[in-house]
Amino acid sequence: MGVSSSQAFKRALAKTRVPVGAPPVVGGVLTYGILNVRPHRPDTKCYGMLASWTSSADTAKRSTPSQMNLQELRSHLPVTQGAIYMNSGWAGPTPLPVLHRIQEALKQEARLGPASTQGVASTRKVMEEARQAISTLVGADVDEICLAHSTREGVNIVIHGIAWKHDDELVICNLEHPALTDPAEVLAQRHGVKVRRAIISPMAPKGDILREIKAQLSPRTRLLALSHVQFTCGLRMPIKEIGQLAQQAGVPFLVDGAQGAGHVEVKVADLGCDFYTISGQKWLMGPVGTGALYIRKGQERLLEPLFTTNALEAARVNSRSPVDRFSLTSQSPGLMAGFAEAVRMVQGIGMERIEQHVMALSNGFRRSLANIKRCRVLSSQLPEAACGLVTVGLEGWPPEELATVLQEQYRIVARTVHGPDGVRFSIAGFNTEQETDQVAEVLAKLAKERG
Ligand SMILES: Cc1ncc(COP(=O)(O)O)c(C=O)c1O
Repeated sequence: MGVSSSQAFKRALAKTRVPVGAPPVVGGVLTYGILNVRPHRPDTKCYGMLASWTSSADTAKRSTPSQMNLQELRSHLPVTQGAIYMNSGWAGPTPLPVLHRIQEALKQEARLGPASTQGVASTRKVMEEARQAISTLVGADVDEICLAHSTREGVNIVIHGIAWKHDDELVICNLEHPALTDPAEVLAQRHGVKVRRAIISPMAPKGDILREIKAQLSPRTRLLALSHVQFTCGLRMPIKEIGQLAQQAGVPFLVDGAQGAGHVEVKVADLGCDFYTISGQKWLMGPVGTGALYIRKGQERLLEPLFTTNALEAARVNSRSPVDRFSLTSQSPGLMAGFAEAVRMVQGIGMERIEQHVMALSNGFRRSLANIKRCRVLSSQLPEAACGLVTVGLEGWPPEELATVLQEQYRIVARTVHGPDGVRFSIAGFNTEQETDQVAEVLAKLAKERG
């Protein structure tokens, strides 16, 4: 936004409603941007709430995750008090119960001593708890879950776990995240692997996607690796059908689920993939530095561990779980306890409920945007391909400038993406219709300014 148009807009606002730049929270009423918003949540000061959440007296009063509904979840997210947070596709906000659990686990570690017999046992228990929670979330056996620090780690464990030979082929697509394209390039450089890219349009219907991918599979393909939901445009890939193609071709299938878990329902058995890797910090609202990798039973035999030690080799035969040898690096019990709590919270609300809410909100948002002149929705509107990631281009607004103005003047947190170039809004379970309406209204104003 140029300075003059920004000032003109501020003047127009001053005449009608609250001034831009007023404190974001006044007595529980958000006053940023063009609207007074009274969000659906208790009128509580969030940081006071954080303090009371962590006091033991209050602990007894809190809901268990299984009792929680979406509105209540929102009341545990301090960021919703001061901003319209639509960036869960990058990192979701941390709920207070997750913060509390992290704190409790670290206190316990400090009390027991991390490497005392009790401390080690307590850490093991947390790791098992996290694996259990994740396995339930994705519909896997606990022995198929390997803890990791991120999606990237899971991708690397699989990609670098395969014994590649020169001229072997890896199939990915043109819309993939660097978490996948970077290790793919490394394979090409180090091992002479041929990386074949299916070319898929962000708006592609299912038939085109399947045709494109099938055309790339060959007798030389050693791995097919694709995102569940493409990070730039939010294209939800027909993973189940792609999984069938992979099975017919006898090709192992890795799914980058960074944008899947916590956003859309994931049941690995239905998807028919061999590997599925997730991030804790995005839609699941867990801590940064947490993630996991699902390895379908028996498919661990396709991989050699990326990180190795002598202890690993010694432990190999007696390992407690077939996937243990893939998670070697230490995990923080605090972060893993937080991850387990976040996953349980999401499950307590119910993934089906979360997905329904996300779809209803994002469909409404897409419809509102379609009515705005000079605004282009760059994400698929097809029912089977649409999801909570909505990428938008506004004529006259370079995406970087638009994202900055949204954040600095309206407290709307979203991010830019490229290919397609736009601003990506992540509509998550805790977002509300008031918020999507408000964002649409701001976008309409901004579009008019430069029309
Ligand atoms: C599709 C996709 N894969 C991988 C990642 C990286 O996730 P992590 O930071 O957990 O490795 C992202 C992050 O935005 C992503 O969108």
